[in-house]
Amino acid sequence: MTIMQKPSYKEAKTRDKREYQKVFFHISDDKKNLFKGKTYYLKTYGCQMNEHDSENIVAILEQLGFRSALNYEEADFVLLNTCSIRENAHNKAFGLLGRLKHLKETKKDLIVGICGCMAQEEGVIQEILNKYQWVNFVFGTHNIYRLPDLLIENKTSHTQQIEVFSREQDLVEDMPVKRENKYKAYVNIIYGCDKFCTYCIVPYTRGKQRSREKEDILKEIEELKKENYQEVTLLGQNVNAYGKDLYADYKMENLLEDVAKTNIPRIRFITSHPWDFTDQMVEVMRKYPNIMPAIHLPVQSGSNRILKLMGRRYTKEQYLELFHKLKTIPNMAISTDIIVGFPGESEDDFNETLDLCHTCQFDNAFTFIYSPRENTPAAKLPDTIPLEEKERRLQRLNQIVNQYFKEKNEQLLEKEVEVLVEGISDKKNNYFGYTNTNKLINFTGKNIKIGSIVKVKVTEAKTWSLDGKID
Ligand code: 5AD
Ligand code: SF4
Repeated sequence: MTIMQKPSYKEAKTRDKREYQKVFFHISDDKKNLFKGKTYYLKTYGCQMNEHDSENIVAILEQLGFRSALNYEEADFVLLNTCSIRENAHNKAFGLLGRLKHLKETKKDLIVGICGCMAQEEGVIQEILNKYQWVNFVFGTHNIYRLPDLLIENKTSHTQQIEVFSREQDLVEDMPVKRENKYKAYVNIIYGCDKFCTYCIVPYTRGKQRSREKEDILKEIEELKKENYQEVTLLGQNVNAYGKDLYADYKMENLLEDVAKTNIPRIRFITSHPWDFTDQMVEVMRKYPNIMPAIHLPVQSGSNRILKLMGRRYTKEQYLELFHKLKTIPNMAISTDIIVGFPGESEDDFNETLDLCHTCQFDNAFTFIYSPRENTPAAKLPDTIPLEEKERRLQRLNQIVNQYFKEKNEQLLEKEVEVLVEGISDKKNNYFGYTNTNKLINFTGKNIKIGSIVKVKVTEAKTWSLDGKID
């Protein structure tokens, strides 16, 4: 076994004023096509950040000569890009690892790799060292660019390689990318998170906040525009902190305005922490019609006591103030994330969350039962709420938020909505796409160009989607 680097939470927690080098990714000609004839299967868990990392990983693998396999049973190389955010993401990845162990018993040459957020966890690495010695190699979120070398080293080394850096490394530009979608693209603007919400493992797995240089972001978007991309989503764990670590006077509102001026038809950004959402950002959104009227604004709880314990840095009142400000932009749709069963959440605290949902009537909400994460401050708090009670709360919450999703959709009945057409949705050759407010719509029409932005009349409102037609 070769442990090149193991993760350490103590180091991962460090935040200092270290400067980052910008380096450029490059695969030398002698490495290209080294794996010609081999196939890969990449399984991605978790958020858009991981999905986008996987778009980089696929492009790297294809430069090395790999082609994609239809399923993991047929692949020569299986890579798991993992997520740490909640326990069930863990369990899913370890479930697949169990199946891969069987496969490897009959298919000795199979290469199995693990990357992503779980690789950054001390406990997971220990478990891999103890129980999964047959996994070929592990790398973390800070060294995806090392994949070609790890694969090459694995060819000759025959021992398990663990290379996980606890701390962020250089900022790598020019990573190759194979995008999943031909019309919508993810663009990283900031890596890491410095918010340290007490329940969250991300500041440890993704490291310190590092903004990409604005010129690199704008260049990427200009290129996407030339390739006929219609929509970009600016990505980061906390996009609103953009620029703070890099520039004295260039912030998210400035970047947003510059991106809007590229005239790319649709701009979105996720995820926004309410604390960093400035009035200037709201005004830029109001001014540019190509910034979509849809914001994901996680609230997490409606109780000030719980928000404080979560380390969220805002009160319910401050959240509502921002919420209502955003709602002054016409047709603004707001979605959220909510955690139930945070340690010590009382029935009263929970009812405050329900009250907030009645007030906000979110267009969409992702709701979760609190899941203690290794090494986070909240995991040390006494958690006395029985699981059945947490499940009951989740159900009660879902019932309320779902009812509002439907009501919000019903408000669109008979109205025209603007849709980016993404493809054919069924055997009858109907189409599907997303509205500017990010709602899924299935619709009928004739000879509609995929990748165009069209007006669709809403004919039916369901909880999670709309139906419509173009006459
Ligand atoms: N338990 C439950 N949900 C969590 N989230 C983050 N950490 C946890 C956790 N430990 C949720 C938050 C966040 C979303 C991405 O995942 O709601 O906004
Ligand atoms: Fe986690 Fe909070 Fe950072 Fe979001 S803002 S990634 S919840 S620490």
